[in-house]
Amino acid sequence: MSEKKTIRLIVTRQDRPDSAPYEEEFEIPYRPNMNVISALMEIRRNPVNAKGEKTTPVTWDMNCLEEVCGACSMVINGKPRQSCTALIDKLEQPIRLEPMRTFPVVRDLQVDRSRMFDSLKKVKAWIPIDGTYDLGPGPRMPERKRQWAYELSKCMTCGVCLEACPNVNSKSNFIGPAPLSQVRLFNAHPTGAMHKAERLAAIMGDGGLANCGNSQNCVQSCPKGIPLTTSIAALNREATIQMFRNFFGSDEV
Ligand code: SF4
Ligand code: FES
Repeated sequence: MSEKKTIRLIVTRQDRPDSAPYEEEFEIPYRPNMNVISALMEIRRNPVNAKGEKTTPVTWDMNCLEEVCGACSMVINGKPRQSCTALIDKLEQPIRLEPMRTFPVVRDLQVDRSRMFDSLKKVKAWIPIDGTYDLGPGPRMPERKRQWAYELSKCMTCGVCLEACPNVNSKSNFIGPAPLSQVRLFNAHPTGAMHKAERLAAIMGDGGLANCGNSQNCVQSCPKGIPLTTSIAALNREATIQMFRNFFGSDEV
């Protein structure tokens, strides 16, 4: 008689933000076409570990289930990525699930990504417009520029590039690749360019461009294929020009 196919998972668990992490192994029934989230849902449905002991359901974040919201990031078999697009059939077992340690752990695989959202605030990653009356159509962007700006706009603040970057950690205040790339996006916008100097000033200081070690990990890990290192190189050029502008007190450089 053939044995029932199962999936083995080793999950790094943590009960509270300040408690010690520990590993718990699970063995769940296999179904075709499962992803990591459906495996976690199976554990939630029947929270019993591989030793047959009743345990607490594993906690994680998710929302869109189609690699758009960025909420479900975790480290899967050593690689930070989205759990909604991580197919069980394509993963080596036992499948190791860990939280992204660049961010404080809330519980189990759930992390607090505020660090990244605070950085987006710091670099003013928005276009300030007065929404109290109809401003009419905005200025048009040249098609070629619109195309690359669209690629940058796909960022879903998943935090994977920050997790992959060796220079983003608890000892550094480096804002990381995603917020830098958003500076390039908003500076490229005809209306957003009004605040270009302020955004550049924010990344020319501590925790900004100079903290990038050019490891290239970010661009390789981004699930959206965002050209992060190209953005960082372009910003380095913009920052140098801005430095001369500041030095000569002129807009003409
Ligand atoms: S740049 Fe890519 S990896 Fe980084 S937060 Fe945005 S989508 Fe995620
Ligand atoms: S649940 Fe939204 S990206 Fe995975």
